[in-house]
Amino acid sequence: MNISINKEECIKCKKCISVCIKDIFTYNGEIEINNEDECIECGHCLAYCPTNSVIHSSFPKTKVHNISRENIPNSNDLMELIKSRRSTRVFSKNLIPDETLKTIIEAAHRAPTAKNKQLVEFTIITNKEILSEISTYTVSVFSKIAKKLNNPFIKSIAKPFASEVYNLLPSFLSMQEKFKNGEDIILREATALLLIHSEKNRFAIQDANLAYQNASLMAESMGIGQFYTGFIIAAIDNDNRKNYLSNKLGIKGNIYAGMALGIPKFSYSKYIDKKDISINWIK
Ligand SMILES: Cc1cc2nc3c(=O)[nH]c(=O)nc-3n(C[C@H](O)[C@H](O)[C@H](O)COP(=O)(O)O)c2cc1C
Repeated sequence: MNISINKEECIKCKKCISVCIKDIFTYNGEIEINNEDECIECGHCLAYCPTNSVIHSSFPKTKVHNISRENIPNSNDLMELIKSRRSTRVFSKNLIPDETLKTIIEAAHRAPTAKNKQLVEFTIITNKEILSEISTYTVSVFSKIAKKLNNPFIKSIAKPFASEVYNLLPSFLSMQEKFKNGEDIILREATALLLIHSEKNRFAIQDANLAYQNASLMAESMGIGQFYTGFIIAAIDNDNRKNYLSNKLGIKGNIYAGMALGIPKFSYSKYIDKKDISINWIK
């Protein structure tokens, strides 16, 4: 990593000093660079510099872009998008164009990550057989758990202590039943599955879910339906064969979030209010 200042252009406004969380810039008559190896490559120094005087080896000119603020949706437009986003329950058989999927994934990739590590990776599955195998895998994990819970010996010991899990038993059994009858309650006939994964790290789950939310809003803005594949993630978490699905799909690391995607079968024209908001405002 190499960072320097174009001293001819620098107007010594010191914004780079203020925005750098690693104290890489100091002022001693002019801007000086220290400990550049500590840089987390967030690019704030370049984004704020009014004279393009920061020269950074990670960010050649092609990676620095002017923002057209007039293209940013205003708060009303953004709120309308947020209110309109739903978890799609029924998908049509029509396929999502590849370019649309790429845009959704780019939106996910642009989400913030802890320490700007950017370890989040994406796998998009549009292969019908593999999608079906993932639904089958998910149901099989829950079926195994249901079988264990129903074992009379385990039941007699565990039920008093694990009432929460036992409350879920009927839904595991009904999931199994519906799947047997040909209803895809896991992917709901979605034509694509976006898996968000990374190597294990302290904020991996948070990073994945922030990526998810960027993608879900982008999908909604493009008329693409999505829902969070909680069953798949729960199956992965509860499968005692560690990284079974990751390994099957050739994914390195852990899967932390999943998004079923498809063209919605029905359109809707109303948004429905959530429960009353609760804000604990400490002033
Ligand atoms: C962590 C999480 C897991 C979810 N898992 C599933 C799921 O497995 N299947 C599904 O159809 N919807 C799933 N959902 C969608 C919720 O049911 C949905 O967000 C909720 O009912 C509110 O509806 P809305 O998203 O349309 O506002 C999940 C949502 C979240 C946040």
